[in-house]
Amino acid sequence: MRPIEWKNDRLCLLDQTLLPHQKKYVECYTYSDVARAIKEMIVRGAPAIGVSAAYGMVLGAAEYKGDDVEGFIKHLEKVSELLKDTRPTAVNLFWAIERMLKVAYDNRQASVEDIKDLLLKEADRMAQEDVETNRRIGYFGQQLLQDGAVVLTHCNAGALATVGYGTALGVIRAAREAGKNISVYADETRPYLQGARLTAWELMEEGIPVTLITDSMAGYFMKKGIISAVIVGADRIAANGDVANKIGTYTLAVLAKENRVPFYVAAPLSTLDLSIESGDDIPIEERDEREVTHIGGVRIAPYGVKVANPAFDVTPNQYVTAIITDAGVVYPPYKQNLQKLVNKVD
Ligand code: MRU
Repeated sequence: MRPIEWKNDRLCLLDQTLLPHQKKYVECYTYSDVARAIKEMIVRGAPAIGVSAAYGMVLGAAEYKGDDVEGFIKHLEKVSELLKDTRPTAVNLFWAIERMLKVAYDNRQASVEDIKDLLLKEADRMAQEDVETNRRIGYFGQQLLQDGAVVLTHCNAGALATVGYGTALGVIRAAREAGKNISVYADETRPYLQGARLTAWELMEEGIPVTLITDSMAGYFMKKGIISAVIVGADRIAANGDVANKIGTYTLAVLAKENRVPFYVAAPLSTLDLSIESGDDIPIEERDEREVTHIGGVRIAPYGVKVANPAFDVTPNQYVTAIITDAGVVYPPYKQNLQKLVNKVD
């Protein structure tokens, strides 16, 4: 399952707005195509958004004609602004764009053509690293799961949200690869239904047992003692361990604490944003009200009703049992332990 593929001169994205009923790739030839695909959630999920933006920088670079390096870098900065302006919450978007810009800044002595080649190599490296990173998250995370565990997940933090393997779903894949019998409860994840449309499909494609529930049923199944653990992804993790993820994640975390169910967050180090103290500083995207008033294009709400549609929420660190990263599992106190981990890998 490859949601993102670079083919010579274009970026091919599996259109996630059409899944699970249609499997169609959208071809992006310009950086504006990529920006639109991110904004319209043809590609979505923090790591996938990041790598797509990296290839968007490659396409933007290709549009520059001429050999003036400083002019080229100014053009790249303009490209980066359009890509940064797509969605505000997932920090991987900004991490990926800064990494690409650094390649240009660090090679100002080279020719424009050489820098373009280096940018493509960097985007390819990021794509490859992403899969390796998710496998390491899986390796560390699966050790937290017993054989027979029933895992509840929210949104889609799977192969579709990355370049491959997935973060939260990567832990489930790794546990099964380790011979553990794991089954999944997937929240439908209103309003955009990433759980019902993407997670259910992804797991069924691989024969991993999955039960689809509405978001409102999670408390019921926790209280019945059916859920062994909750594992979700993340879009941005603050220095103190507060976690931004798909709207509804905070509700799950409170329910998990109330029912003494471990609540794990699986995320790459690239999703850490140690430049911000707490979750209060994480920008939360507000999306189109039609995502709430309509389902599958059918209007369900009365005309003129007032609507709110924050796409993410923040789970305070006290509700997070552990953060599973590609460099190991981190436990509270997060302020110290996340910094220690980053220092260790740097
Ligand atoms: O709005 P989306 O679908 O991009 O939101 C995605 C999530 O919240 C994921 O849980 C998160 O990005 C982690 S993906 C590995």
